[in-house]
Amino acid sequence: MSFSLDIYRFDQATDEVPHRDRVECDLPTTMTVLDALENVKAEKDGSISFRRSCRSAICGSCAMNINGTTGLACRTPIDSVLRSDNTIAVDPMPNFQPMKDLVVHMDPFWDKYSRLKPYLQPKDSDSDHQTERRVSPEDMQKLVAVANCVMCATCYALCPVVSVDPAFAGPAAIAYAYRFIEDVRDSKRKERAAQISDDFLWLCAHCYACSYCPKHVDPQDDIIAVKRATIEEGLVDHPGPRHALVIAKTIKHTGMLHETEVIQGTVGRFNIKGLIKVAPFGIRLALAGKIPPLFLKPVPKVNEIAMIFDTLEVPVLA
Ligand code: SF4
Ligand code: SF4
Ligand code: FES
Repeated sequence: MSFSLDIYRFDQATDEVPHRDRVECDLPTTMTVLDALENVKAEKDGSISFRRSCRSAICGSCAMNINGTTGLACRTPIDSVLRSDNTIAVDPMPNFQPMKDLVVHMDPFWDKYSRLKPYLQPKDSDSDHQTERRVSPEDMQKLVAVANCVMCATCYALCPVVSVDPAFAGPAAIAYAYRFIEDVRDSKRKERAAQISDDFLWLCAHCYACSYCPKHVDPQDDIIAVKRATIEEGLVDHPGPRHALVIAKTIKHTGMLHETEVIQGTVGRFNIKGLIKVAPFGIRLALAGKIPPLFLKPVPKVNEIAMIFDTLEVPVLA
């Protein structure tokens, strides 16, 4: 079947602005977008650049934007993305700087990953063990999903927080932090939690965009677990964890979100500078007649809500 690839073209060595090339293909639409790109490169224009290796969704190198959605070109069938005008647009992943055509600079992604020290750091040496270090099937089960990560950076490209604050670790790095934080053989739980906390873990807005992962890692759930781990490790002197803990506290004690207390608890009750900083916001609310009440009357049967928090061992602000 005939269709065309609408390809983003840019060479940082020679071009000031990108342009697009439209290249005609005649291929079965059961083939993949990567097959189409390979065909075009072999038959029409050898200068088109893109990364690939395994062609089996294992190496993670062929991630690109296909018709506006990032994914692995080698596991995207042509007929699943062919538009009504018989075209497919291919672009470099967003949240990365283009280098050449579909190839991007991956350094920020790898830097965040390597800061995690992504290798096992046990407390004793291998020679202390007669056999390999064994992990129970139950403990291993928690790590199976994240072990499937192929570091394709699709989730990182889709993350809206990375796009507004490139310092944010991003979903893949946080999922990998989880992989070692939850590994019973590792001895650096607190250090790992502190590192990922310093890499702006708490900026995650829980938007679930990173749930679109070609390997079903679902970093979103791991991010929640890592946030919980940082609280368990006592790393709470930061607006992020304080915000989570004070919200839990007000709901546990009143059955409602007590916004006045949430603001104070997040900023820090004795953080005079911080409180002065948010004062204009409070004044604007007051002028608009939207100032939240200073005290809240607990809802009926609030003790039942508190019991749920206790049963689930939900941490709250002290
Ligand atoms: S979590 Fe999924 S989307 Fe993100 S890098 Fe790993 S495999 Fe790719
Ligand atoms: S859930 Fe968090 S890490 Fe995932 S895409 Fe949204 S903001 Fe980014
Ligand atoms: S070529 Fe390896 S994941 Fe696509």
